Amino acid sequence: MRNILLFLLTLLLLTECCGNKPDVCPPDDPARAVNYNKTYPIVDSLLRVMTLDEMIGQLVLYTSDWDVTGPSIRDGYVDDIRAGKCGNIFNAYTADYTRKLQEIAVNETRLGIPLLFGYDVIHGFRTIFPINLGISASWDMPLIKESARVAAREAAAAGLHWTYSPMCDICVEPRWGRISEGAGEDAFLGSAVARAMVYGYQGEDLEDPLTIAACVKHFAAYGAPHAGRDYNTVDMSERWLREFYLPPYKAAVDAGAQTVMASFNEYDGIPATANSHLLTEILRHEWGFDGFVVSDYTGIMEMINHGTSRDLEDASIQALNAGNDMDMQSGGFSDFLKKAVEEGKVSRKTLEEAVRRVLTVKARLGLFQDPFRYCSAEREAAETKTGANLLTARTLAEESCVLLKNDNALPLAKGARIAVIGPLADSADDLLASWRGAGQVEGVKSILDGIRDYSDRIIYVRGCELDGDVKTGFGAAVTAARSAEAVIMVLGESCDWSGEAASRTSIRLPEIQTELLKAVAATGKPVTIVLMNGRPLDLSEESGMADAILEAWFPGTMGGEAVARLLFGDASPSGRLSVTFPRTLGQVPIYYYAKNTGRPYVHPGVKYESRYLDCENEPLYPFGYGLTYTTFSYGKPELSADNFGPKGSITAKATVTNTGSREGTEVVQLYLRDMVGSVTRPVKQLKGFERVTLAPGESRTVEFEITPELISFWRKDLTFGPEAGEFRLFIGPASDCQEYATFTYNE
Ligand code: NOJ
Repeated sequence: MRNILLFLLTLLLLTECCGNKPDVCPPDDPARAVNYNKTYPIVDSLLRVMTLDEMIGQLVLYTSDWDVTGPSIRDGYVDDIRAGKCGNIFNAYTADYTRKLQEIAVNETRLGIPLLFGYDVIHGFRTIFPINLGISASWDMPLIKESARVAAREAAAAGLHWTYSPMCDICVEPRWGRISEGAGEDAFLGSAVARAMVYGYQGEDLEDPLTIAACVKHFAAYGAPHAGRDYNTVDMSERWLREFYLPPYKAAVDAGAQTVMASFNEYDGIPATANSHLLTEILRHEWGFDGFVVSDYTGIMEMINHGTSRDLEDASIQALNAGNDMDMQSGGFSDFLKKAVEEGKVSRKTLEEAVRRVLTVKARLGLFQDPFRYCSAEREAAETKTGANLLTARTLAEESCVLLKNDNALPLAKGARIAVIGPLADSADDLLASWRGAGQVEGVKSILDGIRDYSDRIIYVRGCELDGDVKTGFGAAVTAARSAEAVIMVLGESCDWSGEAASRTSIRLPEIQTELLKAVAATGKPVTIVLMNGRPLDLSEESGMADAILEAWFPGTMGGEAVARLLFGDASPSGRLSVTFPRTLGQVPIYYYAKNTGRPYVHPGVKYESRYLDCENEPLYPFGYGLTYTTFSYGKPELSADNFGPKGSITAKATVTNTGSREGTEVVQLYLRDMVGSVTRPVKQLKGFERVTLAPGESRTVEFEITPELISFWRKDLTFGPEAGEFRLFIGPASDCQEYATFTYNE
């Protein structure tokens, strides 16, 4: 029987046709994957012959026992595949192992439907790039796209079809460990990063065996947990959600992302896993998403704990009916969906639609043509950690680093006598971060090793541990500092202090590290801090003691080399913060797109204005901020006209000049403020940016087009569009820029 079906499927493949629908490729990247527009008759043919059990199996996703990314490992996943009860596997990789599992699915099940292999390729697969918060600080979309492409090539060659990335969760909550996995606080920048990553993973043709399907996560608003505690309650107005949180998810969907992952959190009292407003009304009806939705790890089961489902059966029914097509690891679809369909609690149509979506993604990946096209040991060897991949990783690591302070301490002289101090200086492991995929630490250079390439007069002293109160290493650290021309201290967080289930109530460096800094700084030697951390930190105390601070995040496989190149001036810092660094946790949530309030703080010392008694309102380092080894000046923003209407646009421009003596890269940023709206508007919103590299003395005029779309927002009646009135337009180096021009939009 199986062979007859296979024959039927082969015939269909040969006669497959392509129906076209209009391409909705966003104008900024024509390289959107092209085969989404095809129709796949094989999917209909399969649906006609599939039993209920076979259909449900396609909606089931289990982890292998290769990697642990959640609380439960289900025994017997191989038997489940063989029995047709599991059509999708995650956490299994390598060409050999995926081939072995695929052979079971293809040769030992009745219909031979290929498995889909997923994995958390978050910031690289074997070649590890900086954490995503760092990547976003590069503001370099072509390079971000390239990093995703590298990750896809490596992962696809190891048998993977599907990554659980990009993570599109906007976050203004530094206590939340997963702030490290996202693109920071801003919807505009976050959308650009999301698009770049989807294009990078999915390429121009999803059937190309070097591309993988993207998964937009965690839908929605997972980045706003109360008090920053992972998995905690999320609540915000629909307006706030739409304006500040949804745009990156939507950008990724518009870019053609094939799948979406429902988040763990509730939104408006309903777990996202079964939230039909999010999964069906917004995602499918408003945005036209035609891929499939997967729950997060045991997300369906967790609806029992949320208190919106009596039991797993109830949860599974709610989830599928709400638009959640695939069950990751709860086992509820497997155990209860058949009964639910038979009892009419889930309609056959709903089930079939979900199966159709899953099969369509498999077809788009070319798996029905050749289920083994991704498992190639040869390609795996050829694509993994190539020189080109590593170079991309090094460049992105360099561009991700943000120079927060520099009182003439950097760049360092090559060959100088340097004391390298701190608990993270010699850690290659932390460079790779907590979500390192299949990245391995062997052969990775620590920052200390990178520095040693620039001078053979290095004295290394660890000084203290990451935490605790043992100061026995302080003496040696101070002695080393005294004997050196300059000091580099590598401080920060362990890589597992951020990421999933890694929230913290403090965003300070552990006391022991600050104490060590104090002791070393007291020597009077120029001290540069290199920071490794996965969240914005309160650096108020440290910034007063150090001469220079380089924020390196967790910079990945090539981070040691990249940081050293920046420290010694072979590369210049060009990163800009994608998230605000507060002065103290007490300012959180703090973000640049705040509202003006009815009592903005404009009269220093006046009581009844919106301010703190014990701290200024401004952050320590604002969104968009970052220094380099040269300086830039900005001309006043100029406009091609001072007004436009629905069918028009105007051009804004400003001239940027490199006023220093070295070449440098500036990220020119455009912000808008809508002065009067039907609802309150932020005091600034990022609406454009461009990286420009200028030689000493060189000037460049950077232009931005201002369109009705760019000034649109969710109006009082929750429709999206522009409103007539006056706008301020700022072009500058960071979100605290002040120079503006004014224009009017006429309806
Ligand atoms: C749980 C995490 O929230 C999600 O980001 C990840 O993709 C899944 N586990 C699978 O590992």
